[in-house]
Amino acid sequence: MKAKKILTSVLVCGFLSAPLMNVSAANSDTNTITKYSLKFNSNNYTEETATVDGKTITYRAYEKIVYVKNPVDTKYEIMNIYVPEEYYDGTSIGSYNVDTAPIFFPNTVGGYMPAEPGSPGLDERSGEPNAALVALSKGYVVAEPGARGRTTQNESGEYTGKAPAAIVDLKAAVRYLRYNDKIMPGDAEKIISNGTSAGGALSALLGATGNSKDYDSYLKKLGAANERDDIFAVSSYAAITDLDHADMAYEWLFNGINDYKKLVISSDTDYHIQREMVEGTLTEDQIQVSNELSALFPNYVNSLKLTDSNGTPLTLNKNGNGTFKEYVKSFVMDSAQKALDSGTDLSSLTWITIKGGKVTDLDFDQYIQYVGRMKTPSAFDGLDLTNAENELFGTSTTKAQHFTQYGLENSTVSSTLADASVIKMLNPLYYIGTKGTTTSSYWRIRQGTVDNDTSLAVPTLLSAKLENSGFNVDFSMPWDQSHGGDYDLDELFDWTDSIVASSKASSSSNGKKLANTSNNGKGSNVNKNAKSS
Ligand code: DHB
Repeated sequence: MKAKKILTSVLVCGFLSAPLMNVSAANSDTNTITKYSLKFNSNNYTEETATVDGKTITYRAYEKIVYVKNPVDTKYEIMNIYVPEEYYDGTSIGSYNVDTAPIFFPNTVGGYMPAEPGSPGLDERSGEPNAALVALSKGYVVAEPGARGRTTQNESGEYTGKAPAAIVDLKAAVRYLRYNDKIMPGDAEKIISNGTSAGGALSALLGATGNSKDYDSYLKKLGAANERDDIFAVSSYAAITDLDHADMAYEWLFNGINDYKKLVISSDTDYHIQREMVEGTLTEDQIQVSNELSALFPNYVNSLKLTDSNGTPLTLNKNGNGTFKEYVKSFVMDSAQKALDSGTDLSSLTWITIKGGKVTDLDFDQYIQYVGRMKTPSAFDGLDLTNAENELFGTSTTKAQHFTQYGLENSTVSSTLADASVIKMLNPLYYIGTKGTTTSSYWRIRQGTVDNDTSLAVPTLLSAKLENSGFNVDFSMPWDQSHGGDYDLDELFDWTDSIVASSKASSSSNGKKLANTSNNGKGSNVNKNAKSS
C-alpha cells in the first residue's frame, strides 16, 4: 500500500469510530442475504499495546472483518488484522516499512474443527508471546483468518463446513488481502501462512494450490474477491495431511507395535477440542487391518517417483524397506546430531550409535518403539466412520464418510465415499507444481521426532515432492518434539526474514508487486535439501 493513504486515515480516524459499516443488504423471499463489502475500512480499529521481551509495542487492531460478500457463517468467515503503529508515521521496523512489511497469516485450525480468528497475545500453555505477537514485534502485518470446520452447521442443521470449506475460506481471506493491497499496510505478495496439525495441513494446502481453478466455484458462491490466491511462503507444523494415504503411511511406520496410547478428540464442543488418553492393545482384526494397510504403502511411495537430493530414487520394496525408509531415518539422525551438538544427553538411548561425537547409526525399529503408537488402524479413515477426518469428508446432510477405497471396502457401518474431487482438493500432493497452479516458492516444514499423530513419512513425502518440483524447502524434525507447533518462533522468523530478503535480492529488477502467475518456484531461489535450520 502507499504510505500517503495511511496518513490520510490517521487524520480522519477520530471522527469515524462508528461500528463496521460495510454491510449493504439484499433480500430474498425467505431469508435475508446480507452482502458485505470487500473493501477494507482503514478507520475501523482499536489501538492495542502488548509487551514483548520487555518492550511495549503498539498496534492497530482491525477485527472481525467479513472477508467474503456472501458469507455462510460470520462467526468463522472473518479475519483479524493487526498493524504496528509505527507504520502510520512512516517509521520502519528493521528492514520493513508500510509498503514492504510481509503479512504473517496464521490460522488457528485444530482437529479440522471450525476456528475463529486468533489474536496477538500470550500462548495459553507457555505464557510466552504467541506467533502473532512476535510477528508484530518484528514488523510484520498480521492477518488472522477464521475458517469453517467439520462441525459447522446452519440454523436448519445442515453442515456448512465440510471439506473443502476450510481451505476455500482461507483462500477467500488471501483474496481479500490482495484485493485491498493498495489501501492496506503490508505487501500481499509476501503472505506467509502458518499453522499446526490440521492447521498445518491447511497451511500447506494453501501454499500448494494457489490459483487452482478447482476451488473457483466454491469461491464464487461465497462472493470471494476476484483475485489471485497464491501465497509467498508456507510454515507448516505437524501437518495432518495427505489424508487419503495417511492410513497406509501410519501402518508402514507402526506395524508390529500393538500397544497404543490413543488420544480421543471429541467434536461435541466448538473449536475448543476435548482430549482424552485411552490405552489399549490392538485386536486381531486391527492387526490384520494394519498388515493390509502397510502393504499398500510401498506402491504409493514408488508411484510418486521421488528422489533424494543426489537423484537417488526414493523407493520401498514390498516389505517396506528401501531408500525411502533410509531417507526418513536420515532426518531423525540429523535431528539427534543437532540435539547432541546442543548438549542434549542421548547416552540412555541405546538405539542411537554415537562415535566421536557423531551420530553414526540409529536402530529404526527401536526408535519407533520409543515413539510408540497413538492411533488404531485405520488411523484416519476410520472403518466405523468415527474419526475426525471421516467427519471432515461428510456432506451438508451426511455427518461422516470414507475417503479411501480401503475404508469403504472394509467399512463396519453403512457408508458412502466422499467425492473424488473433494478428496483431491484436500491433498497438496496432487497440486504441487502442476499446470494451472501457483505453488508457493518457500516452505518450512517441521515434524517432531516423537509426533505420532501421523506418520513421519507424511511430511517427508510432502517435502520431497516440493524439492523434486524445484521449490525451496526447509524441512527438519525437531528432537523429542511431540505433536505441536510454534515452539521455535525465533528460528521461524529468522527463516521468514531470510526468505523475504533472498526473494528481494533475486527479484529487485522486477519491481515489488510483480504478479507471479506461473510455477514461480521453478528454477529460482532453489535451495535443495535445506534440511534444517
Ligand atoms: C489434529 C490431530 C490429529 O491427530 C488429527 O487426526 C487431526 C487433527 C489436530 O491436532 O489438529
